[in-house]
Amino acid sequence: MGADVGASNSTAALVAHGLSKRYRRKLALDQVDLTVPAGSVTALVGPNGAGKTTLIRVCMAFERPNAGSVEVDGVDPWKHRSQALRRVGYVPQSPAVYRGMSVSDHVAMARSLHSGFDSEYARRRIGQLGIPLDQRADTLSGGQAAQLGLAIALGTRAQVLLLDEPLANLDPLARREFIQVLLDAVRAEGSTALLSSHIVTDVEDACDRLVILGGGKVLLDCLLEEARQTHRLTDSDSPPPGATAVGSFLGRKGGKLTLWRLAVPEVGAEGAADVAAETTSLEDVVLGYLAAGRGTAGLQLN
Ligand SMILES: Nc1ncnc2c1ncn2[C@@H]1O[C@H](COP(=O)(O)OP(=O)(O)O)[C@@H](O)[C@H]1O
Ligand SMILES: [Mg+2]
Repeated sequence: MGADVGASNSTAALVAHGLSKRYRRKLALDQVDLTVPAGSVTALVGPNGAGKTTLIRVCMAFERPNAGSVEVDGVDPWKHRSQALRRVGYVPQSPAVYRGMSVSDHVAMARSLHSGFDSEYARRRIGQLGIPLDQRADTLSGGQAAQLGLAIALGTRAQVLLLDEPLANLDPLARREFIQVLLDAVRAEGSTALLSSHIVTDVEDACDRLVILGGGKVLLDCLLEEARQTHRLTDSDSPPPGATAVGSFLGRKGGKLTLWRLAVPEVGAEGAADVAAETTSLEDVVLGYLAAGRGTAGLQLN
């Protein structure tokens, strides 16, 4: 075994530098620069086709980038594959559940695939959720199957968890339970999670950071609180003082709404407290950026 190439004292769990990925003519990732700080829970939000799955798959060394690089916990998965993969727990967009195999068989299979897999830990988590280990996995509810996928990702005891639309097929109660289990694990282990979703309201209670991806580009990357505090919504074309327009979209009741990004004073400077006092919903912030990302192809609003 070679020397450990990881930078264990690094403060970034995931870094992308000028990352581009092209599928034939389609640029799925377009010069993505991104830093996910260790210990954070980051929402990766964007519409279908934004590049969320591609980004996660590049980090897992399933897709080779055309340009740029990624590092997972300080390790480039394209240079040191096994060392990088030891550092990530992955829940794919549609976790595979094998017919005729029990929950316990799934844990055993994970153990055979990952060196250092902690079967006891995975089994205990599954047991705590009231999921019988001898139940056939193809008879689990959607929520239970998602929990099995999560327990297996957690069983790797990886520092970085990458979850691709883990909530997409779950009912509202199962979503809450999934988020709860994830957050408990992340807090207990001090790990980092990046979870993608096409709807921000699904993940906003769980996350402390927001990355908005559109057309393969990073449109916004900041703390959730900062996103709320530094944007404003208006139903007129006149900007709040010092603000720049992000994008316009259709309000719930019809009519054009415009999202603005405020010029943010330094913390403690004059006006900083006023900016922080008022907030805009994350849903509106995301809609504004998505509208901007669609350019003129979207609905024409006047
Ligand atoms: N294997 C592939 N072959 C060709 N195009 C692909 C492939 N995977 C993804 N794409 C394209 O890349 C873009 C980004 O896809 P994806 O990363 O799956 O987005 P998201 O997960 O945000 O919905 C889309 O336009 C998609 O059609
Ligand atoms: Mg996807």
